[in-house]
Amino acid sequence: MPDLDNKKILLGITGGIAAYKAAEYCRLLIKQGARVRVVMTPAAKEFIQPLTFQALTGEPVLSELFDADAANAMDHIELARWADLIVVAPASADSIAKLADGYADNLLLTIVLAASCPVAVAPAMNQHMWSNQATQDNIQRLRQHALLVWGPAAGEQACGDVGEGRMLEPQQLADMSVALFRPGPLTGRKLMITAGPTREAIDPVRFLSNRSSGKMGYALAAAARDAGAEVTLVSGPVCLNVPDSVTLLSCESAGDMLQQVTQNITGQDIFIACAAVADYRVAAVAKEKIKKTAEQMTLQLVKTPDILASVSLSDNKPFCVGFAAETSELEQYARHKLAHKKLDMIAANRVDDPASGFEVDDNALAVFWQGGSQQLPRQPKTDLARELIAIIARVYREARPVTEKT
Ligand code: C5P
Repeated sequence: MPDLDNKKILLGITGGIAAYKAAEYCRLLIKQGARVRVVMTPAAKEFIQPLTFQALTGEPVLSELFDADAANAMDHIELARWADLIVVAPASADSIAKLADGYADNLLLTIVLAASCPVAVAPAMNQHMWSNQATQDNIQRLRQHALLVWGPAAGEQACGDVGEGRMLEPQQLADMSVALFRPGPLTGRKLMITAGPTREAIDPVRFLSNRSSGKMGYALAAAARDAGAEVTLVSGPVCLNVPDSVTLLSCESAGDMLQQVTQNITGQDIFIACAAVADYRVAAVAKEKIKKTAEQMTLQLVKTPDILASVSLSDNKPFCVGFAAETSELEQYARHKLAHKKLDMIAANRVDDPASGFEVDDNALAVFWQGGSQQLPRQPKTDLARELIAIIARVYREARPVTEKT
């Protein structure tokens, strides 16, 4: 059976020279068994004739928001409901900006705004337009809104420049479309991850924090998404890009993080607490910047809420995975936390090795759960994340065999 058998894909084409490649992409989708409807922006029609896509799909090509001739055609809401996937390829800088701002002044933008299926954009533009901060900000916002950003590639451009901004090749886009529909071990599961450090304010300019970079949590979010989960990432302040199609909830302090988790935990199947939450906060945050007049000063600290325990000790709790960062007696402390916080699994790492753990790209983990354990040797956090997600998926399936969602 072809990989995209009966999948309904709405191909949105915007104004860019790469529009001619969209015809080949469209053909490849149909070859894989997909049903394709094409919507073109007015600018797209300056680059390629709608007739090309009409011939390829056997369906009328739509473009106008208010089209008297299309009285019996599907309207924008019906089209948004019809699609299993929307791919905007090529996505021009202008359309990306409008999508990021939620504009709905043409048929394609309106459909995207009304859609609840996955939406992917394949940027295509001159390298300077792509690297422009305005475009980069817009791309970041699309990612935050859980849109997928496919590409762009680097190489020779139609304008003669060489650099990043080329649309991905039709075959690559077709492969990514197929991959999106391939079920993973966590398909249909909702998974929440906390990541990064928290910042506990001392005064308006100073805070207490820690060395967490967020890399492990972000790698886990991407790996869980690749395993098919619908991922919510609750993140403290980090300098990392949000993985595509992951919903980001930003927070600063442990109190903020607890609030975001509490407000969004209902319906989550799996909760992974990877954040390095500050254990203490300053009892009374100074309203004004503290002056350095005194020779000594004492800060009174009070414990922060334990976010993981608030979830793992609650009724109807999801499958809970904790992390333990230790400098000694790893297994003993990890097993104590597993029992004490009533966790389903704990991933422990030693943080006294400078080549592994905080701030660096590599890590090693010892994973413990009721009835099992596994050592994951030192490797890049992205690889480690994939291995840990595979273990979580396996143990989760064994622990919750009732597959009410599948
Ligand atoms: O007890 P300890 O802080 O060592 O536990 C670590 C685990 O608990 C990690 O998974 C961490 O994300 C979580 N944690 C939390 N809230 C806190 C402290 C830790 O969620 N205030």
